[in-house]
Amino acid sequence: MQLQEHVSLKYYNTFGVEVFARYFVEINTEQDIVDLLNDDFLRSLPRFILGGGSNVLFTKDFNGLIIKINIKGIRTVEQKNHFWLDVGAGEVWNDFVLFCVENGYNGVENLTLIPGSVGASPVQNIGAYGVELQDVFHSLHAFDTVDLEFKEFTKYDCEFAYRDSIFKSTHKNRYIITSVRFLLDKTPKLNTSYGAIEQEIQNKGILQPTIKDISNAVAHIRVSKLPDPTTIGNAGSFFKNPIISNETFKPIQDTFPQIVHFPAGDKVKLAAGWMIENCGFKGVVVGNTGTWKNQALVLVNHGKATGSEIYDFSEQIILSVQHKFGLILEREVNIL
Ligand code: EPU
Repeated sequence: MQLQEHVSLKYYNTFGVEVFARYFVEINTEQDIVDLLNDDFLRSLPRFILGGGSNVLFTKDFNGLIIKINIKGIRTVEQKNHFWLDVGAGEVWNDFVLFCVENGYNGVENLTLIPGSVGASPVQNIGAYGVELQDVFHSLHAFDTVDLEFKEFTKYDCEFAYRDSIFKSTHKNRYIITSVRFLLDKTPKLNTSYGAIEQEIQNKGILQPTIKDISNAVAHIRVSKLPDPTTIGNAGSFFKNPIISNETFKPIQDTFPQIVHFPAGDKVKLAAGWMIENCGFKGVVVGNTGTWKNQALVLVNHGKATGSEIYDFSEQIILSVQHKFGLILEREVNIL
C-alpha cells in the first residue's frame, strides 16, 4: 500500500474530468484497509471510496484521501440448487457478468455492460432491463470505519430500494465494502420482460434464448443507446426516474397525456429521459457538455468539460423540468 499525493483523477472517473486528490491510496487486500485506518492522521482525513468512478462527478479538487479499491478474486461455492460467488469489491462489474455467463451462473445477464466495480454495485442497487442487484445479492463484507472492524451485511440490512441502499443514504461513507456474495441459480430464469430484449431476440431469429443470448442482446441495446465512457465521458443516467403518488401524477398526465410512466407499487414511476427530451434537451451541446443524442438522461463530457460546468448544466435541466412538470429531478450521480 503506497500513499500518493496530488494525484490526477482524470482516469479514475468515467466523466473524465480533471481534478486532483490531495492524498490517494490503492487498496489490494483487506489488511491494507486495517493498516490504513489504524493510522491516526489518515483516519482523520475526509475520504471518498472509489470503485470504477462511474457514478461520480468531481466538481473541484478533493482535499482529502481517495481510497481506490482494487481487491480482486472470484470464489465459487456450489450449493444444491444454486451457486454462491464471493467476489472481490475491485473486480470490474462487467468482467464478473461475463464470467457468470460463460460458466452458466444464472441471474446477472441483464446487468451486462453496466460500468463500475462489484463493490459499488450494492451501494446504489444497480439495475437495468428488469433486474436489480438485490435480485442476485446474498450478503456483503465491509470494514466499519467507526468501530474499526469488519462486518457482514445481509440483504435485509442493506435496505435496498430503487437506486439506493444504506451505503448511499443513512450510512454514507461509513463502510468500505471489500467483497460481495451473490446467490445465482443453477437453472436459468430468463427475464425478457423489458420490451427491447424480446424484440432483439426475435430480430435474431432465436427461438430458445440462453443467458448468453440475453447478455448479447442487452449489450447491443446499451451500445446503441448509451455513449461508451472510454470515448465520451459520462456516468450513465445522471438523474433518477421520479417516483410519485397517483394524486400528484393525475394533473401532470392530464396536461401531458403522452408522458411515459410505469407502475411502481402503489405509485407511478416517470421516465425522466422523456421529460428532459420534452424540455428540448435531447442531444443538445452546451459548451463542453450536453445530453446524449440517443438518451437525454445521460449527461456527457465532449472533451474538456469541468465538473462544475456539467453540474451547472444539470441545474439548468432541473429548473426546466421543474418549470414544465412541477417536479424536481434528483441526481443519481454522487456530486463531490
Ligand atoms: N425516453 C425518452 N427520451 C429519452 C430517454 C428516454 O423519451 O431521451 C423514454 C424511452 O422512450 C422509454 C423511457 O423513456 O419509453 C425509458 O427509457 P429507457 O428504457 O432508456 O430507460 P431509462 O428509464 O431512461 C433506466 C435506467 C438505466 C437502465 C435503463 C434500462 C435509471 C435512472 N436509469 O433508464 O440505467 O439502463 O433504465 O433498464 O433508472 C444508469 O443507471 O446509469 C442506467 C443507464
